[in-house]
Amino acid sequence: MELEKSPDYFPIDSSSLRADTKIGCDLYLLVKGSAGSRYILYCRGDAVFENSKSEMLLEKNISRLFIKKDDQQKYYEYLETNFQNIISDTRLSSDEKTKIVHSAATNLVKDLFNDPRSGSIERTKTFAYNMVDFVLKDSHAAHSLLKIAVHEYYTYTHSVNVASVGTLFAKSIGLEEDDLKGFCSGILLHDIGKTRISTDILNKKGKLTKEEIEIMKKHPELGAEILNETGIEFKEELIITLQHHENDDGSGYPNGLNTGEIHLSGKIARIIDVYDALTTKRSYADAVRPFAAIVEMNKKMLHCFDKELFKEFIQFLGPYDPRKEQRTYIYA
Ligand SMILES: [Fe+2]
Repeated sequence: MELEKSPDYFPIDSSSLRADTKIGCDLYLLVKGSAGSRYILYCRGDAVFENSKSEMLLEKNISRLFIKKDDQQKYYEYLETNFQNIISDTRLSSDEKTKIVHSAATNLVKDLFNDPRSGSIERTKTFAYNMVDFVLKDSHAAHSLLKIAVHEYYTYTHSVNVASVGTLFAKSIGLEEDDLKGFCSGILLHDIGKTRISTDILNKKGKLTKEEIEIMKKHPELGAEILNETGIEFKEELIITLQHHENDDGSGYPNGLNTGEIHLSGKIARIIDVYDALTTKRSYADAVRPFAAIVEMNKKMLHCFDKELFKEFIQFLGPYDPRKEQRTYIYA
């Protein structure tokens, strides 16, 4: 069904709503009549979304509801709060859960980059821990998450992609639950230092000048500064933020660490960060296909990576080779 676009309303999946909870924002149905389409209030935000209302949607096969655009924030807060219930819901498929997790993560990281203070940083940490629970609980989650790729590059979509692929890769090479949680949290936060860099440089089309490159190179340390200012205890988060541009041969930044000095999480982050940057469209370059990205990384950037880990990454991507499987693209 082709849905009418409205500047004031935003579509949501009705499967993301838990019966007998308060959603926090008004829910609308789009009703088509002879006089045109109208949005009709279905449930008030301050009322309980009763089971009967949920059942009615299932019965009538209504998968989309609408909220006012101004209420998007409240809706995403609702998703974050109800994360555990959503991922435990046996009526939802892995693909449905993944879509919900991915859109909530994207919104969260968007918030984080708009306002990188302790509140949103803490939310990100909690969310990352829940996201790892999802990946560990649901055997199909990995497959669903890998199918989702955001085609357009934004710092926040990049962070979510890197977190999804990175966490799954880290799991595949044997990281345990606690390490995975720290890793996922760190990787969602890894570019937070960019919030202290001018958008003129971040969004510049064309090549950066030498001075601009030097400024850009400060983002790992600026990120660590932001994390330390929160007063929250971080470990993996600091490692990944500081080390995701360090190269295996010591040519990276900010500290020119060599392979023996780079933490495993930093090495994984380095690989995934490059991989995702190449496979998404940016202001200055088109996206390349995953296979072409691996070829380019192997040809031109091998000195940046831990060779064994890079081999593992190629193997990890193997079953998901796009030549064998169609990926789902979400346009952010
Ligand atoms: Fe970075």
